[in-house]
Amino acid sequence: MWSLQVFTVFAFAYVASGQFELPNPWTWRCVPQEGKDSVCVKELVTATTSGTSSNAACKITCGKYGPLWPKPKSAKIGNEVQYFLPSAVSENIVASEADKALVVQAVEIFKDNLNAYHPGYKKRQVVWRSRDGAKFIELRVSIEIEGPSQSHLTLDVSDEQYSLFVETLPSSSITNATIRAKTFFGARHGLETLSQLIDYEEAENSLMIVNSADIADQPSFTYRGLLLDTSRNYISVDSIKRTLDAMAANKLNTFHWHITDSHSFPMVLKSLPKMAYYGSYSDRDLYQPEDIRNLVVYGRVRGVRVLPEFDAPAHVGSGWEWGPQEGLGELTVCYKQEPWQEYCVEPPCGQLNIANENIYPVLGKIYKEMVELFGPIDMFHFGGDEVNLNCWNSSEEIVNYMSSNRVDRSADSFYGQWSIFQNRAYDLLTEANNNLPVPGILWTSHLTEKGRTTRFLDKNKYIIQIWSTGTDPLIKELLENKFRVIFSNYDAWYLDCGLGAWVGDGHNWCSPYKEWQAVYDNSPNKIALNLSSTVDLSLILGGEAALWSEQVDSESVDVRLWPRGSALGERLWSDPDHDWRDAEYRMVNHRQRLVKRGVQADRLQPEWCHQNEGLCYINKA
Ligand SMILES: *[C@@H]1O[C@H](CO)[C@@H](O)[C@H](O)[C@H]1NC(C)=O
Ligand SMILES: *[C@@H]1O[C@H](CO)[C@@H](O)[C@H](O)[C@H]1NC(C)=O
Ligand SMILES: *[C@@H]1O[C@H](CO)[C@@H](O)[C@H](O)[C@H]1NC(C)=O
Repeated sequence: MWSLQVFTVFAFAYVASGQFELPNPWTWRCVPQEGKDSVCVKELVTATTSGTSSNAACKITCGKYGPLWPKPKSAKIGNEVQYFLPSAVSENIVASEADKALVVQAVEIFKDNLNAYHPGYKKRQVVWRSRDGAKFIELRVSIEIEGPSQSHLTLDVSDEQYSLFVETLPSSSITNATIRAKTFFGARHGLETLSQLIDYEEAENSLMIVNSADIADQPSFTYRGLLLDTSRNYISVDSIKRTLDAMAANKLNTFHWHITDSHSFPMVLKSLPKMAYYGSYSDRDLYQPEDIRNLVVYGRVRGVRVLPEFDAPAHVGSGWEWGPQEGLGELTVCYKQEPWQEYCVEPPCGQLNIANENIYPVLGKIYKEMVELFGPIDMFHFGGDEVNLNCWNSSEEIVNYMSSNRVDRSADSFYGQWSIFQNRAYDLLTEANNNLPVPGILWTSHLTEKGRTTRFLDKNKYIIQIWSTGTDPLIKELLENKFRVIFSNYDAWYLDCGLGAWVGDGHNWCSPYKEWQAVYDNSPNKIALNLSSTVDLSLILGGEAALWSEQVDSESVDVRLWPRGSALGERLWSDPDHDWRDAEYRMVNHRQRLVKRGVQADRLQPEWCHQNEGLCYINKA
């Protein structure tokens, strides 16, 4: 019966372009679910259908959190939409001059994101419907920053809080959106949220926005990071920019740049040009000082701190070859040594030559220039993982140095020397930073093993980034010793796992692949509470997913990072008390949004599931 009715409304036109234009026979209706969030149900349009709605219009108005990702702390979202054109968006900014300059740029990004919703955006064929009167509204965005101007993030959640209020008065052709924040960083999160309450409406060839919204929001964790390694393989500046764009879309706030390693040294330093000269893969695979400065600013206007890592004393090699010719002696030991398995975790091996005093002035220069390029810095990552004692122990120079220092060659003595190195590195960084000490971040390592951390490291100076598993008892010890920590447990947050091995056959070391569901469900607080019910959760600054680049480069970086990075984003921003199942519809929709914005995010499901919410996953009994 209904199929006949459908036929009555089904007619297609042959348009001048020579293409058939098919009217859409489908409509989506938001249907409440027992004990769960509402879903958009796809239905045929029949003669009795009253009012139709596109999938996009249904999604931005359906469910407690509508289409928002990460989900905000509290939200009320209206169930109607208003249509508007990008040309009818205006803004009013109330902020200090310094903040205003940043907000102006954030508004440009916001407007560009709106344009990106148009299906012709990628082909640069964006033609909006021309304005035809009453149906279109004007969108007035007001942004108010209440606090004193703050140009950098600090480790304080209130930095990033914001509220967003959207209202459309009946019979008014204006929709007002008001964002209030304490800092620029909160304000720009508000703009991101606002852009997600907007989508493209096919039937109107215009944008649409929910008619009302009332949102109050702030992050659960202050450190929400993504690590990218650019040494094993070079990642282009454009790919890093795309990564920062996508981070902004997920309210991730720290781009941890593992810029150098033993494989290559792509960072051009004015004071030490030989490092990139010897150390880069080619004279195109470089980060010039200007590139770095630009990326730092590019990140800032997107609410992302670019955090530099200079990994030492292990993970060095390429770029350090010039010591002897400058009369400084060998700056590294066991570089490229074979068989590599005996001296490091992957080829090429290499560690700083701690017997050579000349490494310190060189490190001082590196830090000084990095502070200039990345600064002002509020943290610095010293790396500091995977020191191989056999490497140091195989160097005659270091063996002699140990005996001249009257220490034996036990593991403990080597750890002692390593911690002396680390403390000198910390002091050099402080000096490079105009004697302003900032927290140093260190990976978990032999120095942080049971009983060692408090002996070798000062909790007031160092934050520990945990990369072991989520059941490692070390986590409990670190927290009991009052170290601030960042979670990057590899069993959930290493995004390079699950591929074929590159040093042999079979799968790579940390397989299997960490699927978005595993990324989402990895809760730092739950992990800590599972190990001890009395730990102080405020020591957990947040978390970070890592993409080590042995098996990724500019071509495949997006697909590895996204949308799994989005799962991380919601875990760290919202710290939901439910698992991934309650996030599925929003996740699938958010992935589509990332693609519209030019990020080549991986596909999670057939499009059919996006059009038929709730019908793909097996529900728990
Ligand atoms: C929008 O804001 C302006 C100025 O803040 C105000 O005059 C106007 O009444 C508001 N309109 C709506 C629809 O809320
Ligand atoms: C270093 O080498 C010496 C001599 O072979 C050995 O006795 C010592 O145990 C080694 N130290 C470590 C930490 O392996
Ligand atoms: C809690 O700890 C146990 C024992 O180590 C482990 O088997 C389990 O997976 C942990 N649960 C979580 C949620 O981490």
